[in-house]
Amino acid sequence: MNDSNNDDRPPRRPGTRVVTGGRDPASFHGFVNPPVYHASTVLYRSAADYVAHRSRYQYGRRGTPTTEALELALQELEGPQCAGVALLPSGLAAISAALLSVVHAGDHVLVTDSAYGPTRTFCDQILTRLGVTTTYYDPLAGAAVAALMQENTRAVYLESPGSLSFEMQDVAAIAGAAHARGALVLMDNTWASPIYFRPFDHGVDLAIQAGTKYIGGHSDVMLGTVSANQAAWERLRDTVHTLGLCVGTDDIYLGLRGLRTMGVRLAQHHQAGLKVARWLAERPEIARVLYPALQSCPGHAIWRRDFSGASGLFSFVFKPVAQSAVNAFLNELSLFGIGPSWGGFESLAIPFDCTSIRTATKWAPGGPTVRLHIGLEDVDDLIGDLERGFAALAAAR
Ligand SMILES: Cc1ncc(COP(=O)(O)O)c(C=O)c1O
Repeated sequence: MNDSNNDDRPPRRPGTRVVTGGRDPASFHGFVNPPVYHASTVLYRSAADYVAHRSRYQYGRRGTPTTEALELALQELEGPQCAGVALLPSGLAAISAALLSVVHAGDHVLVTDSAYGPTRTFCDQILTRLGVTTTYYDPLAGAAVAALMQENTRAVYLESPGSLSFEMQDVAAIAGAAHARGALVLMDNTWASPIYFRPFDHGVDLAIQAGTKYIGGHSDVMLGTVSANQAAWERLRDTVHTLGLCVGTDDIYLGLRGLRTMGVRLAQHHQAGLKVARWLAERPEIARVLYPALQSCPGHAIWRRDFSGASGLFSFVFKPVAQSAVNAFLNELSLFGIGPSWGGFESLAIPFDCTSIRTATKWAPGGPTVRLHIGLEDVDDLIGDLERGFAALAAAR
């Protein structure tokens, strides 16, 4: 089997590329998967080779054949504009390494107000300490981010949709405004993954995924990935190497194993997510469902234009009701666990409130908010579970 891209076969679809990408059975005695190389030292053939760094691999921190298999698989999935992929020990590490790779002291970055909370903490604490300033912008600003660009703006950071509030960003419009002023574009693409949104086709330079979510897919690994185009790859690679960031090969293997089934899992998350979202939208207790795949969601038009699918994560807004009743709803659920993260095989439900983390926009949804991750359980059982939750809500009013 030869999975190299440079042959004359027709281009493969993402569902195929997650299965075939980065595989080279001939290098591993025909076995389908690469072994897990537990490695630090690499031995060189001679002193001269050592001095000249003449070796396919140099040191465990710089990667092993297991590391390379996941990097190549992700690179193939991202498409031909992807110049390289860096693997990091968590999604947050991927975000911070990507941001660090593009800024110098005295620079300015624009970050969407809908960004994952710890992304903001990184900007407010670490970047501030390094002399880099951050301005948060309205996620719906589109090309109007141009008005916020400063002389020293080096990067514009997006997360679309926001992973709590689900605003859809006009990625191409924002990227156009950023590039016009020489800034690079970073995007957290964890929600859609490159299967459902191709960041490089829309002007993104550095595409981030919390591999902890859908790549791992089983809630048993922490992982982060940053894919870069030619404009951003060298400094990303050098930043990651210089910081000494690397991922243990057992975890890389779990990422690789998860990736092979990500296409079918995402299709199921999408289908089941849509069914639950439509059902919730009809409930009398609910004011709004924030799921871009749903026609009634404000971001639906952009989602339809740019995305080819949706994952299983979305939020909804209750009509005004006491938080204690919402807690009774959540506590009644037996198939939805209450906990952070998402993207695993299991369903999750958490209460959330963005009020205190917004600075450029006001979070005023009009009622208590809950985020669901629709897992791989039978969707009718999930709806039954939510129905029991609504009974508990009514009893607690
Ligand atoms: C959108 C998004 N990006 C990044 C992260 C961070 O990933 P990790 O938990 O692997 O650090 C999360 C975690 O929940 C997330 O929701």
